[in-house]
Amino acid sequence: MSNWMSNRYSMPVCRDIEPIKTEPWMLDPDIIYLNHGSFGARVASVFEYQVSLKREFEASPVDFLDRQKDHIEHARNVVANFLGADGKGIGFVGNATTGVGCVVNSITFQPSDEILCTSHVYNGVRQLLTRTAKDAGCSYREIPVPLPVHSNSDLFEIVTNSMSNSTKLLVIDHVASASSIIFPVQEIVQYCREIGVLVLVDGSHAPGMLDLNIDQVGADWYVGNLHKWVCAPLGAGFVWASEEKRTTTHPMTISHLYGQGFHNEFDWQGTRDISSWLASAAAVEWGNTIGWERIRQHNHSLVTAMQQALVEAWEVEQFSPLDGSMLGNMATVRLPTSCPQTMESCLAFRDEIYEKFKIEVPIFEFLGLGVVRVSAQLYSRETDVKRLITAIKALSIKM
Ligand SMILES: Cc1ncc(COP(=O)(O)O)c(C=O)c1O
Repeated sequence: MSNWMSNRYSMPVCRDIEPIKTEPWMLDPDIIYLNHGSFGARVASVFEYQVSLKREFEASPVDFLDRQKDHIEHARNVVANFLGADGKGIGFVGNATTGVGCVVNSITFQPSDEILCTSHVYNGVRQLLTRTAKDAGCSYREIPVPLPVHSNSDLFEIVTNSMSNSTKLLVIDHVASASSIIFPVQEIVQYCREIGVLVLVDGSHAPGMLDLNIDQVGADWYVGNLHKWVCAPLGAGFVWASEEKRTTTHPMTISHLYGQGFHNEFDWQGTRDISSWLASAAAVEWGNTIGWERIRQHNHSLVTAMQQALVEAWEVEQFSPLDGSMLGNMATVRLPTSCPQTMESCLAFRDEIYEKFKIEVPIFEFLGLGVVRVSAQLYSRETDVKRLITAIKALSIKM
């Protein structure tokens, strides 16, 4: 593998996974929580800080929203610095889905254009892109990315060989939701720039999971969530637009400050609670006190061990290398064939595991197979996955 294709986001595998002590999480300690990836989770101090902001707002609403503009500017600067992004291009939104909406709304598609993504695209984004293509009368296509994947160069080849002359926009996941695979987005973006294809990177899972430098990724747009792996309050997402795209990228909700600059437009999307945006800076600072690199290393090592434990216990083929080199803090593993394999039965199985064993873990159908996706965060332990194996064994014997 050539150097540029080495996975710059992966971390060395460390088998001695020392728990990192941190303040209490808001999670119910009786639940084995293996689904940080869906909605994240918050530590008490960040939660309390958000509540204090809500109180401050309620004490003097107009002053809080109309005069104290420095609050949002401070939060944006902290977040931009953390993301390795030029803060002039960062606008807060409620979530990554809204971010994708802002971007596709800012592009004029012709009937001859194609919107391209991969078969690992997040389903909500799939629906959004399908609707956008339908409205514009243009085409929408998914590049099949079969599992298992073996290397970044394989992914690069699959994606770049699938461009057509009509591809106008590529939407590529940085960390795919269903497969947990990290895509080599920087190399893909570079290729797209050379051939004149616009790129939106959906980095919903990347902040806090990967050592991110959005400026270096170099896409036209990058959207992400802070409420997943940065552990910010729910409702903290962002859109980053490259310098060329800032004047044409607008929030979904157009309001008073339309045409008055990127920050003005994004900062005022109508009356709303901005406490999650402001408190996202507190979440970044919480991680700084532990060290984000330390957090990432811990979570990556743990999820790599989890992947290995599941693959060995179930004797299934892994979806990506067992050394974890294509994973961040999540791993998707094929369920044994004795387990459900359709979406409906997988969801029922997930609920049964929660009800009977108090284990929260996503179980779903992906590319025709029943799969489980495990997440590792500072509150996770290797024993969590052992309990999952025991629970699934008990339920599959019954089936
Ligand atoms: C890759 C990807 N894109 C978009 C989203 C949507 O995020 P949200 O529901 O916060 O808008 C998710 C959520 O998990 C995701 O994994």
